Amino acid sequence: MTIQATNTALLDWTGDTLAVGLFEGAVELTGDLASLNHKYAGICQEIIAEEEFTGKANSTIVIRLGATNSVRKVIFVGLGKPDALKLETLRRAVASVARTAKKQKTKTLGISLPVWNNDPAATAQALTEGIELALYQDIRFKSEPEDKNPNIETIDLIGLAGQEAAITRADQIVSGVILARQLVAAPANAVTSITMAETAQAIAHEHGLQLEILEQEDCEKLGMGAFLGVAQASDLPPKFIHLIYKPATTAKRKLAIIGKGVTFDSGGLNIKGAGSGIETMKMDMGGAAATLGAAKAIGQLKPDVEVHFISAVTENMISGKAMHPGDILTASNGKTIEVNNTDAEGRLTLADALVYADKLGVDAIVDLATLTGACVVALGEDIAGLFTPDDAVASQLQTAADSTGEKIWRMPMEDKYFDGLKSGIADMKNTGPRYGGSITAALFLKQFVKDTPWAHLDIAGPVWADKENGYNGAGATGFGVRTLVSWILS
Ligand code: BES
Ligand code: MN
Ligand code: ZN
Repeated sequence: MTIQATNTALLDWTGDTLAVGLFEGAVELTGDLASLNHKYAGICQEIIAEEEFTGKANSTIVIRLGATNSVRKVIFVGLGKPDALKLETLRRAVASVARTAKKQKTKTLGISLPVWNNDPAATAQALTEGIELALYQDIRFKSEPEDKNPNIETIDLIGLAGQEAAITRADQIVSGVILARQLVAAPANAVTSITMAETAQAIAHEHGLQLEILEQEDCEKLGMGAFLGVAQASDLPPKFIHLIYKPATTAKRKLAIIGKGVTFDSGGLNIKGAGSGIETMKMDMGGAAATLGAAKAIGQLKPDVEVHFISAVTENMISGKAMHPGDILTASNGKTIEVNNTDAEGRLTLADALVYADKLGVDAIVDLATLTGACVVALGEDIAGLFTPDDAVASQLQTAADSTGEKIWRMPMEDKYFDGLKSGIADMKNTGPRYGGSITAALFLKQFVKDTPWAHLDIAGPVWADKENGYNGAGATGFGVRTLVSWILS
């Protein structure tokens, strides 16, 4: 599929399907659309009326002009109220268009949507993202694809000639999102610590990043007792991944991104019980997937920022070697942890990753983790929790997320709640009371960062979607990649 930009006038465009946006309450065709309507004996306006199309956001109607015409079909897509037009409106509208056009067996598609905020570059980028993310289908584990419709061959973004660079930028970002979706969607017998390390190797090789993989012995030397405590029940070797992107010129900033990389979370000896969704726990490396996805995108976008992409990868399993509930682990900053619940393993792996990142002398650290069910209870499945003591980083991340349509919401870091993690025998326990569980998890992580500005995103909800929503299909969303990229570039 090729996406290209053109300034061909709407009335001169020829191809299978022409898609046009209409604002809510403004479905009376005017200007070029009136001429188009007139050319086809008023059929467009007639069907808009007959189908009671109002321009409600993301609604579509298809009008057949006839197989022998220069345009065979028109798709009208609703844009909602004009004053509410956002880039996200365009991403979602174009996702509806792309899906509808594919169902209509469209091979050549022309899309005419309004330019957002007089910014054709941002518009072309958003349209490309919406199209590519919506049309992605994961057929790796099907012996035969279910969708038998042909792929769309070319898509013309009408009125956006000259925006080729924005389209390329979107391609690069989407390649990272799709990598993250693929890693998250693949089951734990396909994506392991070993394949995650191989994926990092492939990114390093393709896009010129440096890679360091710390093996178990290296982690032992660094005293990563928390990470290794989780890893000890697995039959697979732990892999501590550190990918480094360095710009050709001097770096303006130096950043670290950390992702939770638990390729399967059984809970350990505190095994996940009925109704806990153990069968979905292949997605527990969604933070690491977003980190690798961002690395893939940044390796192509090449900003003037040095970025360290870090993940301590293992699985949380059960065996005679497993941690006992109550075991005491020593993390690489010397702090001791009483593991009162082996199912709170993510924070143990992150503890050593945070200590490692803090020693790199970076300007800021952001971690992403499918850390707590409590965060999903608090914010629902679409919104990630943002936890940070640093107002500046909070506002940077909020701005970055807002520009992408990924939803994050700042949660309080209530210091008093750390009392819930007090241990009679060690420096802290790894879990506290049931209530406020996403906050105590964040307060636990804070113990492993000294002075570096740091933020934690709990992505347990948005890493996965139960049903299709906008440009995300049902399943892995690749959440976090676009926010990270936007934050790094800003
Ligand atoms: N990976 C889970 C968190 C999770 C839950 C992610 C649901 C996605 C959906 C994490 O390791 C975990 O098990 N957390 C426990 C913490 C508890 C033991 C304090 C939880 O949320 O129940
Ligand atoms: Mn767990
Ligand atoms: Zn987990």
